[in-house]
Amino acid sequence: MRGTVRFGVSLPGELLEHFDQLIARKGYKTRSEAIRDLIREHLVAHEWEEDRETVGTVTLVYDHELRELTQVLTRLQHLYHPAIISSLHVHLDEHNCMEVLVVRDRARRIREIADRLTSVRGVKYGALTMATSGQGLY
Ligand code: NI
Repeated sequence: MRGTVRFGVSLPGELLEHFDQLIARKGYKTRSEAIRDLIREHLVAHEWEEDRETVGTVTLVYDHELRELTQVLTRLQHLYHPAIISSLHVHLDEHNCMEVLVVRDRARRIREIADRLTSVRGVKYGALTMATSGQGLY
């Protein structure tokens, strides 16, 4: 199927009412826009469940004065270098640093890299955002 397709959906009226209220609050202009995003979200979740090639970001906050911690983080990033395709370092204040790494690999491997980095002792905050390569999404 190519181009835009129209289809009908049957659902309980109350459910639709709730949905309309929610999407209005989120700023959607039409139901179609909201439903397209829900479908994409679902497809991205599957991309991660099925261990497909995908993209994510790992956010880390840590104190750079813990020299060993900084060394471990650098070592791990070099170890996983083909997967870590970009990194951003922000000096938040005198002590705290934020690093955002863009990781492209199979889903399981990205999770593994995120787990290794966020579990390093001294990392104050670590989180993985499961994004997408965009392939298969229209
Ligand atoms: Ni810094």
